[in-house]
Amino acid sequence: MPPTIRTRVAIVGAGPAGLILSQLLADAGIDSIVVDSRSRAEIESTIRAGILEQGTVDLLRTIDPGTRVDTVGHRHDGIELRFGDEGHRIDFPSLVGRSVWLYPQHEVLKDLLALRLGAGQDLRFGVTVEGVDDGDPEHPAVVATDAHGEPLRIEADFVVGADGSRSVVRAAVTGSSTGGYFREYPFAWFGILCEAPPSSHELIYSNSDAGFALISQRSPEVQRMYFQCDPNADPSAPSDAEVWDTLQARVPGTTLNEGPVIQRDVLRFRSFVAHELRRGRIALVGDAAHTVPPTGAKGMNLAIADVVLLAQALGALLGEDDDRLIEGYAERALDRIWKAQHFSWWMTSMLHVAPDASAFDRLRQRGELSTVVESEAGRTYLAEAYTGWPTR
Ligand code: PHB
Repeated sequence: MPPTIRTRVAIVGAGPAGLILSQLLADAGIDSIVVDSRSRAEIESTIRAGILEQGTVDLLRTIDPGTRVDTVGHRHDGIELRFGDEGHRIDFPSLVGRSVWLYPQHEVLKDLLALRLGAGQDLRFGVTVEGVDDGDPEHPAVVATDAHGEPLRIEADFVVGADGSRSVVRAAVTGSSTGGYFREYPFAWFGILCEAPPSSHELIYSNSDAGFALISQRSPEVQRMYFQCDPNADPSAPSDAEVWDTLQARVPGTTLNEGPVIQRDVLRFRSFVAHELRRGRIALVGDAAHTVPPTGAKGMNLAIADVVLLAQALGALLGEDDDRLIEGYAERALDRIWKAQHFSWWMTSMLHVAPDASAFDRLRQRGELSTVVESEAGRTYLAEAYTGWPTR
């Protein structure tokens, strides 16, 4: 038998979901072990999206006195939708009384890793999980190989898969590694980081005849930008000059600040919701449970919303032997997940130009965009969804 360690909750994945869950459980007096296949340096340097909803920021401020969301992050009170050569600002505070923060995920992760390691969390890097042994349904076990190549077994009262879109835990919940509702899109994002000051102090989501572009920022010196591309595009193929020509053409009416492109990637996107989020004492959170296209900026927020619900449910189950909340976890989480799926799909379809779009499709899309920006009800729906629904 491989060396066996015991804990109350085994958490697979040290992303925002896994780390926040370990904190919320610790606050409730429940021990956990967090494992991740990556090293700490890899986790801290993975470039991901960066919009945090108001509720996510409120949570980070509550659980982490050291959070740098207010010093390194920036509050954004709106976004711009651009189409037909004109920009239309959606002002969040006046519509819904909330804002969002641009604070990249790898910065959130630096804060959370420091918080949990500082508190003595058992957090193991370089651990490859092979699966979950649910032979004893009351005590599922994570079967893994540790950073030294030695077998490792973690027996727990509950196992949580917070291990991302390629989740290994998912199979133990849904019966297969893929079981879920899917939607693919006929386009992807070409993303760049470049050394130049911000071209806009807020995000610009631009729908142009040549396709979609998103202008974001990272710091006073670095910008993050994306443009719609073919899912099979090779990120190294276009020259810097071609990348800039594409971006400039897609944000008509603004001259973007150009600079050396220091990173390029192609992000394929899809929508996914696992058929099941929980089976017995194994549950999924975050990208292991669902994936959204990035246009709605929902990914990290949705993961954290799952975790808030799951932490309450585990507190009741493991602290008070009350299984009512865990029985309702999937249903409660799915309510928000499907709203976010709809919003992410809607933003994506409204702003991108499908490769087979007809003139009718383009003109209808214009009608849709005009409806949204000209109507207070339209702007309010966008602001409500973008800044995040309250947690219930
Ligand atoms: C980003 O800054 O990386 C970003 C912002 C908003 C999105 C997606 C990505 O919708």
